[in-house]
Amino acid sequence: MEDTYVGSIDQGTTGTRFMVFDHSGQVVANAYETHEQIYPEPGWVEHDPIEIWENTQQVVVDGLEEAGLDASQLEALGITNQRETTIVWDEETGKPVHNALVWQDRRTTDRVEEIQEQDKVEWIREKTGLECDAYFSATKTEWLLDNAEPLKMQSSRGADLRDRAEDGELLMGTIDAWLIYNLTGNHITDVSNASRTMLYNIRDLEWDDELLAEFGVPESMVPEVRPSSDEDYYGYTDPDGFLGEEIPVAGALGDQQAALFGQTCFDEGDAKNTYGTGSFYLMNTGEEAVASDHGLLTTIGFQMSGEPVQYALEGSIFITGAAIEWLEDVDLINNAAQTAELARSVDSTDGVYMVPAFTGLGAPHWDGRARGTIVGMTRGTEKAHIVRATLESIAYQTRDVAEAMEADSNIETTSLRVDGGAVKNNFLCQLQSDIIQTDIVRPEVDETTALGSAYAAGLAVGYWDTVDELRDNWQVDREFTPEKSSEEVDKRYDRWDDAVGRSLDWAQE
Ligand code: G3P
Repeated sequence: MEDTYVGSIDQGTTGTRFMVFDHSGQVVANAYETHEQIYPEPGWVEHDPIEIWENTQQVVVDGLEEAGLDASQLEALGITNQRETTIVWDEETGKPVHNALVWQDRRTTDRVEEIQEQDKVEWIREKTGLECDAYFSATKTEWLLDNAEPLKMQSSRGADLRDRAEDGELLMGTIDAWLIYNLTGNHITDVSNASRTMLYNIRDLEWDDELLAEFGVPESMVPEVRPSSDEDYYGYTDPDGFLGEEIPVAGALGDQQAALFGQTCFDEGDAKNTYGTGSFYLMNTGEEAVASDHGLLTTIGFQMSGEPVQYALEGSIFITGAAIEWLEDVDLINNAAQTAELARSVDSTDGVYMVPAFTGLGAPHWDGRARGTIVGMTRGTEKAHIVRATLESIAYQTRDVAEAMEADSNIETTSLRVDGGAVKNNFLCQLQSDIIQTDIVRPEVDETTALGSAYAAGLAVGYWDTVDELRDNWQVDREFTPEKSSEEVDKRYDRWDDAVGRSLDWAQE
């Protein structure tokens, strides 16, 4: 076991990472590449699937080379991915018919409102556990079938896409399925990713005929659904391909579920919050799919080979880390690391609140027409106040979902495991602890997303035998405890709530 490892491909919204882990869960290789964000119109967000596949191969090759490893030392490969982002490709040529529609893309908001007006929201929620929202893959797939051909993007053959889909010539999938297809030639997704499509019935554990019909998606287009850690393997890499080795691809999880797994949240009530482009707060609810009355999603957490599905409650916050990127885009900061120093240079935001509803608001509000706002500015407002208000918005949005989580689960949050790029920021971790009045626990390995999918793949091939070994690997780096009184925090949180009210339902079209 000394010379062998498990690799993980982490295909995220802003870039693709390859990491290699040893048996103790420590990182031995790490390579990263960003890809282009394509914004054809306001509210539309696309990625080029070919670029994503090329970057994937590049980071795997670079990661191995930089760490002085050989592909033959990989016992398995796991995949984790930005969820919901949807690709339709030609079954014969393997070429996408259009760019991927990214989870943040709001172009199908009108269609979602039409469904809402038809009173189908509850019907969809019962089957899928999801809010009817443009976030998920169903309306994106429908849009691609109806519109991709006129745009004539990379479409390889002439006929109407709907006809071709009906004839079984097209496949659809989320990014995991796209990568598994390119790595192994098999059209497979895992159950956690399937649960994000709004086409998959999370109680019956099958593609839902009525939903496929509603969105005009032929069953021949959707991938086979497998456990997240699969002892039958999804397939093998091609020994004549870019890796030059036949390696089992045996684990896949949507990135937020992978982080839940990597944080070893294996038991009911275990929860984590990941701070990436957005933030995603997930609580394991065991074998019960708990329905939410407070604007959370019921989703599939993971499934081990031969075991029942584990469900989760999820609070999806669309914009957190991306709000820091926006500060950079508008030249208020030069880099993310600067935010802590600037925020500390003032005692408070001086009454300024920033609601980064750039792509609408997710949980618990679910308003696709919400837009970003900054309120409370005066002539004395400085850059530092806006930067601090942006950091606070991350912590307040987390409190919004933490409160919903407590109300739905009846489990009081006493400590929260955190991960993702932004948790390197000690100021943010302390702020988060103060604002939700809970201990915040940061693990030693904060790349828990990649770790989770490596664990899933490694368990499938027997690199790790039990989840207890994984629990032993998990170590605390630092714990943050509340330093501010709840009275002080609650007062500000009320004002935050007022600010959110200003941003709701803002967009006209
Ligand atoms: O649901 C969207 C989520 O999976 C995206 O995660 O880390 O790529 O921002 P991330």
